[in-house]
Amino acid sequence: MNACVLHVVGTRPNFVKAAPVITALTTAGCAQTLVHTGQHYDARMSDIFFRQLGLPEPDTDLGVGSGSHARQTADLLVALEQELTARAPALVTVYGDVNSTLAAALAAVKLGIPVAHVEAGLRSFDMAMPEEVNRRLVDQLAELLFATSPEAVGHLAREGVAADRVHLVGNPMIDTLLTHVEQFDPTSARAAHGLPERYGVVTLHRPANVDDPEAAAAAARVLADAARHLDLVVPLHPRGRAALSAAGLANAPGVHLLDPLGYVEFMSLVRGAAVVITDSGGVQEETTVLGVPCLTLRTTTERPVTVTHGTNRLVRHGELVPALRKLLEGGGAAPVEGPPLWDGRAGGRIARVITGWLERHG
Ligand code: UD1
Ligand code: UDP
Repeated sequence: MNACVLHVVGTRPNFVKAAPVITALTTAGCAQTLVHTGQHYDARMSDIFFRQLGLPEPDTDLGVGSGSHARQTADLLVALEQELTARAPALVTVYGDVNSTLAAALAAVKLGIPVAHVEAGLRSFDMAMPEEVNRRLVDQLAELLFATSPEAVGHLAREGVAADRVHLVGNPMIDTLLTHVEQFDPTSARAAHGLPERYGVVTLHRPANVDDPEAAAAAARVLADAARHLDLVVPLHPRGRAALSAAGLANAPGVHLLDPLGYVEFMSLVRGAAVVITDSGGVQEETTVLGVPCLTLRTTTERPVTVTHGTNRLVRHGELVPALRKLLEGGGAAPVEGPPLWDGRAGGRIARVITGWLERHG
């Protein structure tokens, strides 16, 4: 055995979730290998996270890059099969619900290598989302399933996953937030982007909001309306840039379009925001913990705990401006106590389960 645990990461949210698990396993003295699939490759989508989150340099970058779902997943499978065969780890750890997550889990189990899934059991019940397909499949393949919230444990039980494989550990993305929160400086971030004291942050990248030009135009229109009430800073994911720009978002008064931001710069803006408008999974969770009101431009969420225990509200296009105005007038819901176990110690809990498992099986 060359490494006890091999982590596969490939996209921006994977980096944020993996960092505390890698740190905790390092503290536990566990040998680890880090494989970057290269699904995200721009410096602003990848390198900057490694630097800011103190992630180790990847042992390999597979350089798979972009493509259609079939092409990207197929390329990931082939490259990961070779890598896992060569390295023969005792356990492969995968994060979240992206194509790199599914490909790594599938390549590993077909080679007889057990898989641990961090962020198991989330369900939007919308199979039109590529992430929902990925999550459901990965949860059927995994040997160890780490859940962030009790309803995720319930979903796994209903899908027939054996209870002894499932561990409610809290949320490693929130470990990362709490590790870096003292670096989140809203005043400097606001000044750096010429924003007034009161502003909103927007991120949009879900295919349902940005892929189809009509959907992108509808999103751009509603954001331009919202920007009449509050300046909006919009660090744009590369996926939506062309469509949202073509829809005129760049020229809307009060809209500040930016390239994707590094983690600390982004979270600094979020921490100081009057409201966040998003379709991101992670951002719904981060605003919950920071107590920043979040309006999610989606019809479903796989993270309902951010609504019941946090500051999140799902809004359709027509509901966005009224909801925003209500928040600005002080009528928004105050944060409640925050989800249980989102306390900055999820990485340690995951490491304890993994090291225990390795002692029995490694
Ligand atoms: C992926 C995940 C999504 C996650 C998101 C996080 C899948 C199916 N989707 O979506 O669940 O929420 O990451 O950010 O895995 N691109 C660049 N530079 C990059 C990366 C991508 O320009 O570094 C552009 C390319 O044009 C590419 C497009 O973005 O075709 C989409 O990238 P891809 O990795 O396929 O999916 P995301 O939309 O990033
Ligand atoms: N993020 C960032 N800079 C940005 C946008 C996002 O650092 O410009 C961080 C933020 O912490 C977020 C994470 O990247 O939670 C993952 O974001 P994304 O929305 O891409 O993925 P999702 O959570 O929707 O899968």
